[in-house]
Amino acid sequence: MITAKRDGGELSDAQIDWVVDGFTRGIVADEQMSALAMAIVWRGMTRRETARWTAAMIASGSRMDFTDLPRPTVDKHSTGGVGDKITLPLAPLVAACGAAVPQLSGRGLGHTGGTLDKLESIPGWQADVTVARMREILSDPATGAVVCAAGADLAPADKRLYALRDVTGTVESIPLIASSIMSKKIAEGTAALVLDVKVGSGAFLETLDGARELATVMVELGRDAGVRTVALLTAMDTPLGRTAGNALEVAESVEVLAGGGPADVVELTLTLAREMVAQAGLNIDPADVLSDGRAMDHWRSMIQAQGGDPDAALPVARHTEVVKAESTGVLTRLDAMGVGVAAWRLGAGRARQGEKVQAGAGIEMHAKPGDSVVAGQPLLTLHTDTPDAFAGAVAALDGAVVIESAPASEPGELILGR
Ligand code: URA
Repeated sequence: MITAKRDGGELSDAQIDWVVDGFTRGIVADEQMSALAMAIVWRGMTRRETARWTAAMIASGSRMDFTDLPRPTVDKHSTGGVGDKITLPLAPLVAACGAAVPQLSGRGLGHTGGTLDKLESIPGWQADVTVARMREILSDPATGAVVCAAGADLAPADKRLYALRDVTGTVESIPLIASSIMSKKIAEGTAALVLDVKVGSGAFLETLDGARELATVMVELGRDAGVRTVALLTAMDTPLGRTAGNALEVAESVEVLAGGGPADVVELTLTLAREMVAQAGLNIDPADVLSDGRAMDHWRSMIQAQGGDPDAALPVARHTEVVKAESTGVLTRLDAMGVGVAAWRLGAGRARQGEKVQAGAGIEMHAKPGDSVVAGQPLLTLHTDTPDAFAGAVAALDGAVVIESAPASEPGELILGR
């Protein structure tokens, strides 16, 4: 199979079933699966191969079923970005609109943050929830949303394969990304799904064409499995909002739920909420539910349902350092990848699976592209418990911040396509 794919061949359904099952059971060795993954990165997979690969990953574990819940289920998945805290305000908002939101989330790896890492900065909050407890929370009309870690039995083939891809340079492949994400989302048992496919320097895919192809493959996989699926293409050249880092992003999400927060975070939250509400067949405007405080009530209840204290003070990093504007003009670039790597080096992210992250570490952004700035004004505040990390973070920001006296163009749109 490795040499067949290496030489541009197509794998049969039986071969795919065999290799995914064999890898899950330890019969196919890690080095063999790594070689096959690298061959797939180079040669790709047909739609048939991708669909079968996804089905085999779902079949490697158990599939959840929420069809008996009294409310329609709908979930969102983002392909990952810098400062992407959207799940935090979105899940309680959509639950407050009348849907049940069963969101299995992950931890961060590399420059993109993980939703569970963010929520774990809330004192007492637990990511592990049993399926029985998930059902209870989803059925409770005062809560209706659960954001938790996937159990060991949900697409275990993907868990093993993703850990391997992460250390073998085999993440960036449309069929492998699409099958990895969709196997988990289909196995999770949601009836509807809205995908936020990121495009730009801080995303897996930098070009609109690549992101559109990934979105198309994922939507087809979802629809073929009976999950109502739509995808939005959204910009990830600059971080979302004004914070990147775990507790910093929780605080910003609470601002959004309180009716404030940065305009881009509010826009994306409401755009995704409208799609989710429509997919769930509900007729309600999420903007009303956000502004009248119902989304905040659901947030508080969602955090409490998983042991967290929504009123507790969030952790704060012990050290800060300010990066100032070097000239006067308009900030035209605040590169998502540069900011993401800097936040990661400050301790907000991990380099290897299983490492601990710092709850208070990260970056506050005092200006965003399009803003006028004056030489010497604070642009970024870096937060960390480990001050040795400042030098590496500042190095990561080299070239990430651009100030121009006469910008050639306005900042681009956030929502790039559907
Ligand atoms: N997220 C996943 O779950 N899998 C991938 O392959 C990439 C991003």
